[in-house]
Amino acid sequence: MSVRRLHHEQPESFEFTPENLAWAKKVIERYPEGRQASAVVPVMWRAQEQVGWVTEPAIRVISELLDMPRIRVLEVATFYTMFQLQPVGKKAHIQVCGTTPCQLRGSEELVKVCKSKISETPHTLSEDGNFSWEEVECLGACVNAPMVQIFKDFYEDLDVEKFEKLLDDIAGGKPVLPGPQGVDRIFAAPEGGPTTLLSIEDTTKGAPQEAVVVEGSDAASRHHAGDALNTGGAGYTGIPRPAEAGFAEFIERHRKAEEAKAKGEG
Ligand code: FES
Repeated sequence: MSVRRLHHEQPESFEFTPENLAWAKKVIERYPEGRQASAVVPVMWRAQEQVGWVTEPAIRVISELLDMPRIRVLEVATFYTMFQLQPVGKKAHIQVCGTTPCQLRGSEELVKVCKSKISETPHTLSEDGNFSWEEVECLGACVNAPMVQIFKDFYEDLDVEKFEKLLDDIAGGKPVLPGPQGVDRIFAAPEGGPTTLLSIEDTTKGAPQEAVVVEGSDAASRHHAGDALNTGGAGYTGIPRPAEAGFAEFIERHRKAEEAKAKGEG
């Protein structure tokens, strides 16, 4: 693994927005007195969502908030590669999976697209500052390889043409649909629908993906806020809901989508 250091240029200061500070305090309250440091990952994640990356002033603020030594917050920031230590694109930071299944299905071509459309080197802003990219290890969607992650969403079954269009749509502020791209499947189901266990009624097919406008990690977080148990979006109260409640909502959404489809509205 490469050496991960704080970026050489840092802003003067960092301050949580009042909304994010209230959110962080709720998360901290989940832990017993004296164990506030346990909240370091979600609180740092929110700081990253707010400004796009983990800055040195943010590390100072988090260490004070959690009453823990700065060096320990820095250790967490530099250990986990999900924390960005340099500025990322204002609109999108693209994580291209480069592990074997994705590589065999064309991820090297996706990297070439990043190099030509964004910047020659990873972790470097595009000229307009709207995009950045990096290559990452397996993101667990190998069955729909090759794929990229953009903030909290996966875009799968990509090829050069689809990927270029995706980047162009994001650049133009158009809504894009996460998940498999241009392939007739839901999530990781086979193309064209199930091919086995056809006699079993499947009630877990999931709701259709919703289109999103990609406009930075904070917006991405808000798209997801409260959507499922512990998503941790900006609107998440910090109090995990019972799994049954989240599941019931999920089923209800799916039922409505199926109804709309049956009526020809979907
Ligand atoms: S190898 Fe790319 S998602 Fe697993």
